[in-house]
Amino acid sequence: MGAFTMDWRKLFLLVVVLSLAQLAKAQSPTYHVGRTPTAEEIHKWDISIGPDGKELPPGHGTAAEGAKLFRVKQCVVCHGGTGSNGPAPTLIKSDGKTKSRYPCLVPCVNDSNAMAIHAQYATTMWDYINRAMPLNQEGTLKPDEVYALVAFLLFKNGVIPEDQVLDAQSLPKVKMPNRDHAALALEWKHGTPIVAGYP
Ligand code: HEC
Repeated sequence: MGAFTMDWRKLFLLVVVLSLAQLAKAQSPTYHVGRTPTAEEIHKWDISIGPDGKELPPGHGTAAEGAKLFRVKQCVVCHGGTGSNGPAPTLIKSDGKTKSRYPCLVPCVNDSNAMAIHAQYATTMWDYINRAMPLNQEGTLKPDEVYALVAFLLFKNGVIPEDQVLDAQSLPKVKMPNRDHAALALEWKHGTPIVAGYP
């Protein structure tokens, strides 16, 4: 009889513990910290632009507009007035004569591997500038401004003509100088994970 009472109590305890666990699960996530992000929050983080540019937002920009923004948005403060004479990496290949007074930090980005020359896809530049620049004010540029800044940098590096308008259709079609020369010749298809460093 005593044994039966013990078993009944154990069973009761087990039921209570399991019900509490169920309740806790319904109330908060596994580790009882944080919460499920809202669709709007996920949308804010989901800003990757693939090589085919499918995710590019509407908007457009030209090199002339970009030239102004390069100053107004303070790119010059870090990248230098010529795009190759500031403490931050070279964005515009230099004339070969003027030497920057700043050391080229590792990984050294200079005339030969500036992003406009080195990247396989123009969309990579759009994505980079949109998510990471201007440093310390990331995410403040509007799509039109990013299109214009990319147009300016591509024009100054001799990749596109000065009057070319960049938008969601024309940007992915820009033939980048390094398109076919990457160490890993990757024909990217939408949905394929992007290997670190490529494109
Ligand atoms: C406060 C300084 C600062 C400002 C302002 C700034 N940048 Fe940068 N930028 C940097 C630094 C530092 C890096 C290198 C970051 C790294 O490699 O992690 C960089 C990297 C870049 C790169 C990638 C270079 C490469 O080949 O790796 C691009 C493109 C770029 N910036 C564009 C811009 C544009 C366009 C603006 C203006 C809208 C801007 N930056 C404003 C500091 C700045």
